[in-house]
Amino acid sequence: MKITIFGTGYVGLVTGACFAEAGYQVMCVDIDKEKIERLKQGIIPIYEPGLDRVVKENYAAQRLHFSTSAGEGVAFGEFQFIAVGTPPDEDGSADLKYVLAVAEEIGRHMEQHRIVIDKSTVPVGTADKVRAKISSVLAERKVDLTFDVISNPEFLKEGSAVADFMKPDRIVIGADSPANAERMRELYAPFNRNHDRLIVMDIRSAELTKYAANAMLATKISFMNEISNLAERLGADVENVRIGIGSDPRIGYQFIYAGCGYGGSCFPKDVQALARTASTIGYEPRLLNAIEAINQDQKTRLFELVSRHFDGAGNLRGKVFALWGLAFKPNTDDMREAPSRVLMEALWAAGARVQAYDPEAMEETQRIYGAREDLVLMGTKEAALKGADGLVICTEWKGFTAPDFAVMAQQLKQPVIFDGRNLYDPSRLQAKGWTYYGIGRGASCKRDN
Ligand code: UDX
Repeated sequence: MKITIFGTGYVGLVTGACFAEAGYQVMCVDIDKEKIERLKQGIIPIYEPGLDRVVKENYAAQRLHFSTSAGEGVAFGEFQFIAVGTPPDEDGSADLKYVLAVAEEIGRHMEQHRIVIDKSTVPVGTADKVRAKISSVLAERKVDLTFDVISNPEFLKEGSAVADFMKPDRIVIGADSPANAERMRELYAPFNRNHDRLIVMDIRSAELTKYAANAMLATKISFMNEISNLAERLGADVENVRIGIGSDPRIGYQFIYAGCGYGGSCFPKDVQALARTASTIGYEPRLLNAIEAINQDQKTRLFELVSRHFDGAGNLRGKVFALWGLAFKPNTDDMREAPSRVLMEALWAAGARVQAYDPEAMEETQRIYGAREDLVLMGTKEAALKGADGLVICTEWKGFTAPDFAVMAQQLKQPVIFDGRNLYDPSRLQAKGWTYYGIGRGASCKRDN
């Protein structure tokens, strides 16, 4: 079986590399010439554990191919995956121009039957649009060819994308015929051993499943962040509450960590896109709107804590802050919608400077912000502390969880930590003479009602 993947972003590249790893012939197509050239040289555009090896080995073994030619891609695979971006439009809805451009190329170049699979996260109804686009191009060409459209949303997490793809917890297939579902079952057989992880349903339900999954996870986080805001005002510790409620298996321990807000390419975009879909069909998405609003507020919490500690944003001019963690989460260099950006931009607006360290995302930070006087990227987490007025933590990288607090206290001008990921025990730090602010950590964050 031969597979073509359009788009070499997170989803496309991981999907292509992992199918090749399973032994299939795979061609990854992207319109970005430079990206494709670099991939051929073994330069991977993103930091993603394990991806480097899978791409290089399968490229060397000639199972994984790269091309900028849509025609070549359409001719190559019986299975044509669409895994291009769906960036938010001005109004928050998903922009389908890249998805439909691929559909058009498929219609233009196909010479035999093709199975077209939507892998990108796309609004309900997109499969119909893809089908209509291909049909109209075929009609223009006056050719009589058949094709199928299938929805197969991807649930991989950045930072563990390869592992998630190789050992999925589910493979959702939206198909309009048992025969199509069967082809997908065959395709995914290498990833579906031991017990059946394939969930087959109609196309629209599959499309909605992806949004519902992300919105549900985002709900858990925003809910917990709301509880953390209550905990601060009530003198309770959200970390105790988390353990207390997580022990109920109906709630579970996962995704109930309060913090400085969720980021990344999916949650903010998908929650907004689903809310937008709801509005356009005349349904007011009250919960979805609240999830996103809470998250936007939450991203300003660290700055609030910092300015409160220094008696107002007006006193931050000329201050220097050490920042640990730039990426939106650990094990990635992705800065999309990262809470660190909201914090840095607020500190800069108040006239403060930032000395930042991140194990992977510094190059990306440099690319986004360029050279500026109020941002210095430091080679180690210790170097970032030197002469700073306080430490702010935005990402829970493993290397940050057990630092040497005595050494840290010597580097900082004053021993104060604003911890957006609740990494430390407030009472232990307070006993060592630190001023410690977490998110929703009871007395340490108590604010006036
Ligand atoms: C998410 C989904 O998990 C994945 O299934 C989907 O395919 C794409 O979107 P990802 O964006 O890689 O994956 O990140 P995820 O691990 O879900 O974290 C998202 C954000 O939520 C991060 O900023 C993280 O720090 C934050 N988060 C997560 C919390 O603030 N609290 C939590 O309890 C969990």
